[in-house]
Amino acid sequence: MGVAVVTGAAGFIGSHLCAALLGEGHHVRGIDNFDPYYDRRLKEANLAALRSHPAFTFSEADLVAADLGGLLEGADRLFHQAARPGVRSSWGDDFRIYVRANITATQRLLEALRARPALRAVIASSSSVYGQAAGGPTPEDAPRRPISPYGVSKLATEALVAAYHANFGLPVVCLRYFTVFGPRQRPDMAFHRFARAITLGETFEVYGDGRQVRDFTYVADAVAANLLALEHGRPGEVYNIGGGAPASVRDAIAILEALAGRRAEIVWGPRQPGDPRSTEADTTRARGVLGFRPRVGLEQGLREMMAWMASVVAKERENQGRS
Ligand code: NAD
Ligand code: UGA
Repeated sequence: MGVAVVTGAAGFIGSHLCAALLGEGHHVRGIDNFDPYYDRRLKEANLAALRSHPAFTFSEADLVAADLGGLLEGADRLFHQAARPGVRSSWGDDFRIYVRANITATQRLLEALRARPALRAVIASSSSVYGQAAGGPTPEDAPRRPISPYGVSKLATEALVAAYHANFGLPVVCLRYFTVFGPRQRPDMAFHRFARAITLGETFEVYGDGRQVRDFTYVADAVAANLLALEHGRPGEVYNIGGGAPASVRDAIAILEALAGRRAEIVWGPRQPGDPRSTEADTTRARGVLGFRPRVGLEQGLREMMAWMASVVAKERENQGRS
């Protein structure tokens, strides 16, 4: 087996992807700069099990500054997960961070790929490129009209991939993930916050009326989509990756309440700029071309998240007890 490079390896999706690649027998080279969007300690925890694996190496490196040729040396596959994520925090001055991490970093990687035309790559994009899509499942060729600066930055990521593919024939595909959840989810995301608050008996905020709908996608399904896309993706093509059973934020909270056996303490806040009312993936292309089939539904996935959160909170209490 060859060497798989994973950018954003210390992040939520990237760390799960590294584990899956190691499980398949690949050598994995993880890259991450510990972008301060959230606590470095969470990212170190994401990496902990990977670091002890003999086939895993890690480079703390910024894709905008690093020698990417060196980092890609000997690699036969690349999974580009690194980005500044987060829809609601992409307004204001911080947008320049999104431009740097999501546009400049991707452009530098694509330049490095020009010198390695046989290296196949899968690049993470986002349902946020659609903005508020028309009702019903959204196919890949639906209009891309992002309603957040983050969505604009991911649309630029995709446009760069398309330009490099059109001119140099690079074997690169993009995956548009729809709201991914599961253990290690980022701490700014809804289910991380909700699961933590319900576990601790604390309040949490719901933005808007809670009737917004997302095509929530379990992280193992997003990871499986990456492995399939690398093998079967058509160069230059884009694929929607969604969980297949859109649900509202209220629906998800009801499941969390049932799993925890207690009522959620909700504080109702305003709808947030940049948030679409609903997302729903048409995954016909991913099913047909990649063989993608989402396997973990919302209830099972939230059960895994609650179990993970219980272990996180137990560890925190143990550490507090020691100090
Ligand atoms: P994450 O923040 O947990 O992981 C991204 C990682 O990239 C972080 O660890 C960060 O330190 C690293 N990074 C950022 N800039 C970097 C740079 N310049 N050099 C090296 N590393 C850098 O986010 P995630 O939720 O795991 O998202 C992974 C990818 O999936 C991103 O591209 C994101 O835009 C995309 N995405 C995520 C979701 C979701 O629901 N989580 C949905 C759609 C798309
Ligand atoms: C997620 C990711 O964070 C983005 O990186 C990604 O690009 C996007 O999915 C995507 O699918 O493209 P989002 O759908 O906003 O974005 O995911 P969550 O943070 O889990 O939020 C889901 C819903 O819950 C949103 O309507 C949000 O406003 C709401 N929410 C979030 C709350 O009500 N309270 C919170 O504390 C957090």
